Amino acid sequence: MAKPALNYICQSCGSVHPRWAGQCASCGAWDTIVEEASSGFTKIKKDTKRNVVELVPLKGADETVAHIPTGITELDRVLGGGLVPGSAILIGGDPGIGKSTLLLQAVAAMAARNATCLYITGEESVEQVRLRGARLGLSDMPVQVAAATSVGDILSTLKGVKQKGLTLLVIDSIQTMYVDSVESTPGTVSQVRTSAHELIAAAKQSGAVLVLVGHVTKEGQIAGPRVLEHMVDTVLYFEGDRGHSFRIVRAVKNRFGAANEIGVFEMTEQGLKEVANPSALFLSEREGGLPGSAVFAGMEGTRPMLLEVQALITPSYMSQPRRAVVGWDANRLAMLLAVLQARAGLQLADKEVYLNVAGGLRINEPAADLAVAAALISALSNQPVPPDTVFFGEIGLSGEVRQVSQAETRIREAAKLGFTRAVLPPSPKKRAKNDFILEEIRGIRQLNSLIGG
Ligand code: TYD
Ligand code: MG
Repeated sequence: MAKPALNYICQSCGSVHPRWAGQCASCGAWDTIVEEASSGFTKIKKDTKRNVVELVPLKGADETVAHIPTGITELDRVLGGGLVPGSAILIGGDPGIGKSTLLLQAVAAMAARNATCLYITGEESVEQVRLRGARLGLSDMPVQVAAATSVGDILSTLKGVKQKGLTLLVIDSIQTMYVDSVESTPGTVSQVRTSAHELIAAAKQSGAVLVLVGHVTKEGQIAGPRVLEHMVDTVLYFEGDRGHSFRIVRAVKNRFGAANEIGVFEMTEQGLKEVANPSALFLSEREGGLPGSAVFAGMEGTRPMLLEVQALITPSYMSQPRRAVVGWDANRLAMLLAVLQARAGLQLADKEVYLNVAGGLRINEPAADLAVAAALISALSNQPVPPDTVFFGEIGLSGEVRQVSQAETRIREAAKLGFTRAVLPPSPKKRAKNDFILEEIRGIRQLNSLIGG
């Protein structure tokens, strides 16, 4: 018999390599390449017993997904309305960001409304969890807590709970779980993958919602296999800056709702508090009338959000002036500086440029270009941006200001927070007239004369 061919497969990205290597050439992960026997492509044997799978028509489905609200509005918003029975959710985030706190609060909020909820921790002792519960004022909630790391034990325990109908099962974290039949240590790719597979299958079968906590790597991705993200229905990331008290839960994948929705929380002594009006929070420390500051009317998913962009420009005595950015893309800043220099004649080549999004949030929208340009022009000319004005619009390489989506929503949010004027791209449609002043501009030269004088 011919020896089976060997394949070397990266357990992180699944790419196949001709020989073993310490680092995967496709995804850059270290020590993820594993030898797997490959039998090549062979025909299925004739005598293999096969079941016939059930065929279901696509039409006639009930289009509404039954979301069960958790009672934490900001979390429900990210989830697209609440938890979907039988679904699996993965939540990742830096250590100490507040994953365990949020989930304990969510479990308690669900339990308070008579749902059977289980919180299983593999990282802390039961006492630690109970102590935290007491500190969060949740001691009276009918939540069941267990400390376990064996998936087999957890599945047996679930069988006992099942009669009562389990609604929510939290596993904190998937990296601490192990299955007996897999030989590697907890946290390795095969353990994480197998444990997740077993738990998801059990949850799907019982109709319970499974929430898995996942650690993140230094690069900010959920540690272990990327496949974990494919296995679950919803992937949430818990973000935030240690220097700031607010936290953001962001949906990067959601089979039952819109991705890119965010929920905003504030970490307090009594755990995570919901922030219903994030714009007000992010603008709370703004001092109007200073040069180098502009307010961006941004969108996070379907939610408008106002953010302050700050710029500082100083003369440089170095051959390569420093450019530092916090909260925005450094390449995008380089591009914008080049456009301002080439199309509006701003002298920036011999200046150091610092850009900061106040509050520690990160902006990913191209629509922020106009606000960044306004902050830069204001910093360079030492002229404050006109008060009570917001900015949004994308800037192209020839200095033209381009359309962005959801202008109406952005304007409405600005008006709600007391702004009276927006600088924005020209609209193809006629806009309704009201008290809010709309300053439509076509190019950055106009922006320069508006601010720089
Ligand atoms: P935790 O939920 O344990 O983080 P994770 O599970 O993501 O690792 O969060 C712990 C941090 O939150 C810790 O630094 C203390 C802080 N914290 C508060 O500020 N207030 C609180 O009420 C609680 C419970 C924690
Ligand atoms: Mg934790």
